[in-house]
Amino acid sequence: MYSSIRRKWEKILKYKRDGVLLTQICDAIKGRTIYRVSGILMRLRGKVQEQYEKKRGLDFSAPLPGMYAAEGERRDYWPSEKKYVQRALAELDFHNKLNFLDVGCGKGYVLYLAAAYPFARIAGIEYSEDVFSILKRNMAQLRRTDIALFNADARDFDAYGEYDVIYFFNPFGEKIMSDVIESILNQMRKEKEYTIIYYNPVCADLILQTGIFKLVRDLPIARGCKIHIYRGKR
Ligand SMILES: C[S@@+](CC[C@H](N)C(=O)[O-])C[C@H]1O[C@@H](n2cnc3c(N)ncnc32)[C@H](O)[C@@H]1O
Repeated sequence: MYSSIRRKWEKILKYKRDGVLLTQICDAIKGRTIYRVSGILMRLRGKVQEQYEKKRGLDFSAPLPGMYAAEGERRDYWPSEKKYVQRALAELDFHNKLNFLDVGCGKGYVLYLAAAYPFARIAGIEYSEDVFSILKRNMAQLRRTDIALFNADARDFDAYGEYDVIYFFNPFGEKIMSDVIESILNQMRKEKEYTIIYYNPVCADLILQTGIFKLVRDLPIARGCKIHIYRGKR
C-alpha cells in the first residue's frame, strides 16, 4: 500500500515540476516575443522618423552599423531616443547656468534636443570624420552656429572642466571610457558640481569607482536599458 501511495505522490510531484517548467518556457517565449516585437516597432518608428527628417534636409536617425572608432573599436551609430533624453534633461536644475557636452555626439540629435533647453552653452565631440560631416550638415541646416562641434577623440579633449552636464550614449567600451573618465577627473574645477548623464551605462562601475560621482537617478528605459545620472564635485 505504501509503495502505491509513494508512486502516486511521485506522479503528483512530477506533474507539478513539469507544470513549473512549462510556465517558465511560456514566460520565456512571451518575453522574447515582446522583445522582438518592440525591436520591430522601434525600427519601423526609425524609418518613419528618417523620412520625416529627409524631407527637412536632416539626417539624425539613419543608423550606421559597423563603423570603426578609436582603438579599432567597432561601434554602431544609433541616436538616443527623444523621450528618454527629455526625461533625463528634466532632472536638471536650470536655475544655474549650465553648459552641456555630448561626448560621442554622432549626427547631433541630442545636441538638437538640448537646444530646446536653456543651456548657456552646448557642444559635441565626434570621432568619426564621416559622421562629423553629417553632423556639420545637420547643424548648418538648423542654423545652429551657436553649438560648438569638435571632430576629435574624446580622450584628447581638454575642456571637460568648462561643462556642467556631460552626456554619453554608450559611445565606447571600458578602455576608452576609463581614459575619458580620468581626463574628466583631472579637468574638474574645485567646488564645481558636475552631472554625468549616461544612456545605456555599460561602464557604470568605472564611474562609481571614481568615488567622486554618485548615482542619483536610475531611470529605466525601453528594452531593459537604463539612463544613469551621476553627480559629483571635487
Ligand atoms: C551611439 S552613438 C551616440 C550619438 C549621440 N550621442 C546620440 O545619443 O544620439 C556614439 C557615437 O560616439 C562616437 N565615438 C566613438 N568613439 C569615440 C571617441 N573615442 N571619441 C569621440 N566620439 C566617439 C561614435 O562615432 C558614434 O557616433
